Amino acid sequence: MKAVRIHAFGGPEVLQIEEIARPVPAVDEILVKVHASGVNPVDWVVREGGNDALRAYLTLPLTLGWDAAGVVEELGSQVTGFRKGDAVYGVPNFPGNGSYAEYCAAKASQFAPKPHSLSFTEAAGVPLAALTAWTGLFGHGQLRAGQRVLIQGASGGVGGFAVQFAKARGAYVIGTASAGNLGYVKSLGADEALDYRTQPAENLLRDIDVVLEASPLRDNAARVNAVRVLKAGGIFVSVNVDFPFDDAMQAALADQQATGELAPNQARRDWLEEIGQLIDTNQVKVTISRVYPLAQVADAHRESQTWHVQGKLVLEINPSGE
Ligand SMILES: NC(=O)c1ccc[n+]([C@@H]2O[C@H](COP(=O)([O-])OP(=O)(O)OC[C@H]3O[C@@H](n4cnc5c(N)ncnc54)[C@H](OP(=O)(O)O)[C@@H]3O)[C@@H](O)[C@H]2O)c1
Repeated sequence: MKAVRIHAFGGPEVLQIEEIARPVPAVDEILVKVHASGVNPVDWVVREGGNDALRAYLTLPLTLGWDAAGVVEELGSQVTGFRKGDAVYGVPNFPGNGSYAEYCAAKASQFAPKPHSLSFTEAAGVPLAALTAWTGLFGHGQLRAGQRVLIQGASGGVGGFAVQFAKARGAYVIGTASAGNLGYVKSLGADEALDYRTQPAENLLRDIDVVLEASPLRDNAARVNAVRVLKAGGIFVSVNVDFPFDDAMQAALADQQATGELAPNQARRDWLEEIGQLIDTNQVKVTISRVYPLAQVADAHRESQTWHVQGKLVLEINPSGE
């Protein structure tokens, strides 16, 4: 089968399209014929050698990609809840061999039925970013109906899902983005959209219940400022788990009587099913800003590395599977 692998860490030039053996599923795994794979910032972070949170877990050679949509081809002997031929989506094996491949074998528990209303290409853009938003908002942030949430990076992959999930849950949603994306953030359902360059949230907002840092900015001073918008008892959640809270941040949280949480995403079937229902009932839409063929994987990485992708990028692996 074809797979995009790396044998060394480095720039886009280390990405190699190779012929390798098809993986064999373990007892608790499914073998998925991958039709499309989402592209996420972590793909090129791993390609470059990882960060402090990841480095120790990376081995070479490695097949990249942790966002898959495809069809179940084989089942491990202990797998229940799926049948051969089922259309599925999920987050395979992070940070092991992933979904930039014609087939991937991964734990069945990390997959769920693909939302009916989405093509495989659209579905591949959902799992990792959506689960990260879900984990951050409802796991660590404990967001409830009627609360006010500030979502930083609301035009990106994680932030765009977060805006829609928070609205669907009945929260009042304020999102930050650059000027050209404010209309897009409103179109996702945000009650307010702020330009992070000219409208600093800390000058405009107070009494926020939850801040979700879903922007790629890793800047302590900006974080400390953002804490000022929280009410006493509020929660600051960051999905940037590689960038822990420093002393100044801990002091700011204590001053505000707020708490801080770092939120790694959890690949859970029940959450993927809930997300799929929101999509199939038109409460959440999926924005795919660009689809690349597998042969242009390096260009997909270059675009992701700009940190200004609206919605998601997807690699098409088996276009005839649509
Ligand atoms: N914890 C986890 O498991 C997990 C999983 C996935 C991602 N992440 C992290 O989550 C973050 C977002 O990932 P993503 O996939 O959503 O990235 P993305 O799709 O590239 O989105 C980045 C978004 O951030 C916005 N942005 C760029 N600079 C900004 C700034 N200075 N202030 C506010 N917003 C800014 C951009 O908006 P404009 O284009 O409008 O400027 C863009 O829409 C990354 O740091 C990533 O590492 C964590």
